[in-house]
Parts: sequence; C-alpha cells; structure tokens
Amino acid sequence: MIETRPTPVAGPALDATGAIPMSQADFNRIANRVQDDYGIQLPLAKKDLVYSRLLRRVRSLGFADFGAYCDHVESVAGLPERTEMLSALTTNVTHFFRERHHFDLLSSLVLPPLIEAARRGSRVRLWSAGCSSGQEPYSLALTLLALCPDAARLDIRILATDIDPKMIARGKDALYPAAERIAISEPLLSRFTEAEPMGDGFRISEAARALVTFAPLNLIGDWPIRGPFDVIFCRNVAIYFSAAIQERLWQRFAAITRPGAYLFIGHSERITGPAEARLENVGITAYRVLPQHDGDRQTSDSTGATQ
Ligand SMILES: C[S@@+](CC[C@H](N)C(=O)[O-])C[C@H]1O[C@@H](n2cnc3c(N)ncnc32)[C@H](O)[C@@H]1O
Repeated sequence: MIETRPTPVAGPALDATGAIPMSQADFNRIANRVQDDYGIQLPLAKKDLVYSRLLRRVRSLGFADFGAYCDHVESVAGLPERTEMLSALTTNVTHFFRERHHFDLLSSLVLPPLIEAARRGSRVRLWSAGCSSGQEPYSLALTLLALCPDAARLDIRILATDIDPKMIARGKDALYPAAERIAISEPLLSRFTEAEPMGDGFRISEAARALVTFAPLNLIGDWPIRGPFDVIFCRNVAIYFSAAIQERLWQRFAAITRPGAYLFIGHSERITGPAEARLENVGITAYRVLPQHDGDRQTSDSTGATQ
C-alpha cells in the first residue's frame, strides 16, 4: 500500500496560547473545498466548529499548521484525507423514526398501494438519500415489514446512500446502542431486532437488513442509479446546501421518480425553484410527484444501476 501520509514537519506552529492557529485564509480554503466537493456550506460562523473538529486531524498527522494541512488535502496524495476531513465536518445526527409523522403517512397512505403493486409483480424502490448511519432506511424497512412481513419475497427494496463512507459502513453493520431502542415500538423491536451478543446494544434483524442496500453517493455528483423511485426520503441533508444546489436537487428527485411517487424532506427544508410545479404538498414536508409535462427529460433509465 502506498504511504500517503506526509513527512511530519518540525513541529506545530503554536501561537502565544500554545494553540495551532487557523487563519481566515485557511478557513476559506477548507470551506471552498467542502463546498466544491460536497455542496456543503460552511459559513464563517462555523469557524470555531471547523477548528475544533479538524485540530485533531492536524495534530495527529503532525502538520505545523492548518496551511500545511490544506496543502496536503488539496494534493493528490491527500485524497484519502479529504474523506477524513469530510467525516469530521459533516453532521450525522439521526435516529430511528425521526419525524414520526412521515412514517405514519407511509403506513397509512404511501405503502399499502405500493405493496399491492409489488404483489402483482411490480418493482418498488425506496431511497434514503443522506442516510447517515442507517437509522432512517431501517425505519423504512421496519415500517414496510410491519405491513408486509414477506417483503423480501417481493421486488421491494430500499437504497440507502450517503457521502460519508464511515456512515455507510455503520449502516451495513446495523449495530446500535441500547439507548436507541426507545424510538422503536415494542412489537417492531421484538420482531425485527436482535440482542447484540458482544455488548448491550442491538442489531437490526436479517429480515430488515436484506431489504436495504447501502452505497456511497454524493448527491451533488452523478447518480449511477437506475430508478425510478416510488419513495424518496432526503431529510436534513439539503439544509447544508446552497439555495441553487437545493433547487437542482429537488428537480433531480422529481425526474428520477415515477409520477405519483412521494418525496419527504426535513422539517426545516422547503421545496424551491422549478420543482415546486412538480411537487404537490400532501402533509408536513411530504410531497407527491405530479406527472411530468411533455418535453421533460426522462431520466428513469440512466446507466449503471445499483438498485
Ligand atoms: C443530519 S444527517 C441526516 C440523516 C437522516 N437523513 C435523518 O434525517 O436523520 C445528514 C447526512 O447527509 C450527508 N451528506 C452531506 N452532504 C452530502 C452529499 N453531498 N451527498 C450525500 N450525502 C451528504 C451527511 O454525511 C450526513 O450523514
């Protein structure tokens, strides 16, 4: 394996308080890199947060200052560190059945006709876009299994994607601390989770894991996925993007779904731009995709399907 770690320099450039300083220029370089690569905005108000989250990386890699760290991150050899930087800077907060009203709407309105369609042989696809450590797609799986215990025998699957490979790995492991059980109802806990033999946590059962495929995906890059999707959850992700990137994202979601599909977004997000005409509000931050008009691009058959 190629050693990409740089040769440490003489030692950190400490300021009068003994801390490694981060200049405005350093912050701008980091913020621009994160914006260009991942669409995530880091306003100046987040400078202290960025500093505290990256200081450990700067120290452990032996850089003299943030400038040297930025040089490394922007070099070809620094590509792996870009991923580490991303992991350190992204907000991955999530929990099971977050914004429960969305799962109530799924159970009552969205899933029953989709399950019927799947029983008649249709292909049904759900997507948790920006899934963090997996609690969201597994909440989808548990909601589906409660209505349709034989879902694995039908062509119903859930795609779970996130830009952060560490989150994807955690989602695949499906191991969660015991404290997170509180958000899952007792019948679902007893049917679809297992005690974790090595600790006091729990694991999502094989029946639910089998419905979910995890994959890394940058929402502002190409989407090597086929669609069309019947349900998309993209919650508490777009809030970190600029207005222009959000608008484009809503349009891409509308284009990769079937007419009549559903899009769920986070509590502090809202649909803006041209996609507003395609998305009908059907509940709190829940939308139904209206049929596309003549001339709209048909994107449901793009290349390289992962789902
Ligand atoms: C706050 S979590 C939301 C998790 C879950 N959707 C929820 O609402 O509980 C935001 C997630 O978005 C992911 N994310 C940020 N920028 C992204 C991008 N450009 N592409 C894909 N995922 C991204 C982060 O890695 C993080 O896991």
